[in-house]
Amino acid sequence: MTQHVLVEKSDKLLILTLNRPDKKNALTRAMYKTLATEIANADDEPNIRCILIKANGDMFTAGNDLADFAAIGNSTAAPKPEDANPLLPALATARTPIVAAVNGRAVGVGVTMLLHCDMVYVAEDAFLITPFVNLALVPEAGSSMLMPLRIGHVRAFEMFVLGEPVSAEKAVNWGIANRAVPAAELHSVARATAAAIAARAPASVVATKSLMREEAALLAHMSQESGHFVRQLKSAEFKEAFTAFSERRAPDFSKFG
Ligand code: COA
Repeated sequence: MTQHVLVEKSDKLLILTLNRPDKKNALTRAMYKTLATEIANADDEPNIRCILIKANGDMFTAGNDLADFAAIGNSTAAPKPEDANPLLPALATARTPIVAAVNGRAVGVGVTMLLHCDMVYVAEDAFLITPFVNLALVPEAGSSMLMPLRIGHVRAFEMFVLGEPVSAEKAVNWGIANRAVPAAELHSVARATAAAIAARAPASVVATKSLMREEAALLAHMSQESGHFVRQLKSAEFKEAFTAFSERRAPDFSKFG
């Protein structure tokens, strides 16, 4: 069976490669679980000093698998804590530094996860897209707090509510990414940076990362987001958005409100 997340450990790095290119690396529950487990375990492995997240194929990730979202939306059972996406708290609480290399497009959680990474490289032709409101959802992964702090309210609102794609150049200028590099060099540049981080004094790196984050506030905000998110997933608005995606047409929200 194809592994949708490739896991490699070498030279003090944990390298996680999204590997579902036929579905544009859309993230399934199984993929989230692997990513979350590997990221959490890295904190307890002295031999791992930095995590690199990258992707195979022409796109970093198309975000959450929409069929998985629809399954949660259609379920009549009350939401259970174990239904929650395990990657989000794993990213928010990771002690090990994380470097991301974004090629092609990053959509939804593919963008919001970058706000938890410590260094981000984007290919020069990459675009970041957060179509949460276009899907009748709300931002997640703490991004409704982290994104406005990072880039300012009006830019974050435009990204979330209008779903406007953000070019690599803008992502760098706005502080979402460190640097845009030619697509052919993306993975080697990101890996070299991960290796440079791994060569620094490990306790000093971990303490520095932890001092730069307010974990408790972030987790509290994420819990608020997830309440809204699940409510929206079960809404008629989301049903219309998902049906429109499946039928390859624009959603019609004119009847709601
Ligand atoms: N979930 C599940 N499957 C997805 C997916 C997603 N998020 N994104 C893409 N796919 C699948 C498509 O259904 C298609 O499958 P098929 O070949 O079996 O029909 C395949 O991946 C290729 O996608 P396609 O739309 O043909 O590629 P594209 O290059 O024309 O467009 C995107 C790429 C990412 C712009 C487009 O697929 C898209 O908008 N996806 C949805 C993104 C999204 O809304 N994510 C959730 C954010 S919260």
